[in-house]
Amino acid sequence: IPNDFRLMMEAHELLRKFYHHLLVNTKDGQHALEYLLDRGFTLKSIEKFQIGYALNSWDFVYKFLTKRNFQPDLLEKSGLVIKRERDGSFFDRFRDRIMFPIFDHKGNTIAFSGRSLGAVDNEPKYLNSPETAIFNKSKILYNFHLARPSMKKLSQLILFEGFADVIAADKSGIENGVATMGTSLTDDHVSIIRRNVESVTICYDGDNAGIEAAYRAATTLASSGSSVRVAMIPDRLDPDDYIKKYGPEKFQNEVIGASVTFMTFKLQYLRRGKDLQNEGDRLQYIENVLKEISSLEKVVERDHYLRQLANEFSLSLEALQQQQKQIYFANK
Ligand code: CTP
Ligand code: MN
Ligand code: MN
Ligand code: MN
Ligand code: MN
Repeated sequence: IPNDFRLMMEAHELLRKFYHHLLVNTKDGQHALEYLLDRGFTLKSIEKFQIGYALNSWDFVYKFLTKRNFQPDLLEKSGLVIKRERDGSFFDRFRDRIMFPIFDHKGNTIAFSGRSLGAVDNEPKYLNSPETAIFNKSKILYNFHLARPSMKKLSQLILFEGFADVIAADKSGIENGVATMGTSLTDDHVSIIRRNVESVTICYDGDNAGIEAAYRAATTLASSGSSVRVAMIPDRLDPDDYIKKYGPEKFQNEVIGASVTFMTFKLQYLRRGKDLQNEGDRLQYIENVLKEISSLEKVVERDHYLRQLANEFSLSLEALQQQQKQIYFANK
């Protein structure tokens, strides 16, 4: 490892500890701690995930690290401070934010994501470190290093949208959860996942954006060869909201435990916005389902979903089989 990289990680390491100390032990961090406890974070989670607080200051990080002999240019390259064009002076990137350290797969601190505490008007809710020599967010899965033992043991991981979801699930006894860093799933993420587990349960937010993103992630993962299930959250909640509202048991049993196969998820996805009492919508839906069935490789699976469709709409199985074959050969 080049010396610069080592120093950049060292700066992150020191800062992680100090941010954490500020949150847990100081008066300056008290409102941030109260915010977290209010949201349902526990002290145990705050410890495990090493959550911290960045002071509302323009130069506390700059001073803290330069005093410890880190060069300003190195701090700028690590994304922790920003250089002013005007006079070449420096200011802290993260101010008055809850700090989530981002670890690499070995457990080195390589970046931060800072959540604003108050109303989110013109500033971003989550502010991430920029891409640096030690942090490439398209290759990092949040919580991968802590989740690894559990994910290896189960040969399964659960993919969430946000940090708060990973942490709430962990508190509920689900330790194999990871999240992307606010981006969609990249090819690098997919190959990390393929190397480590057989199956993935996608548990994204229950809002429209979450459902669309789950559909895309499921498609990518399934075509990479992972066995994919989707766990859906009702009422547009996200996993963290759901756990806060209904508790860990209900999350375990009625969300994760009730996850469905990718195909069943697709069927539900295709129904969205359709009124199946309406003949046009219904025929369109059936056609779309037949297309999906045609793309299934196993005869038994095709047969299963054709029968299900025939039952649901009181159609003849023969007619559906025939039409499915037509679609299959038309797309070949
Ligand atoms: N995100 C981001 N920048 C934003 C909003 C979101 O980087 N301005 C990323 C974060 O990684 C976040 C994830 O996208 O965790 C999911 O977004 P969202 O569902 O809006 O946030 P939550 O995780 O639900 O955050 P919270 O519960 O703290 O509001
Ligand atoms: Mn501590
Ligand atoms: Mn969301
Ligand atoms: Mn969310
Ligand atoms: Mn949330």
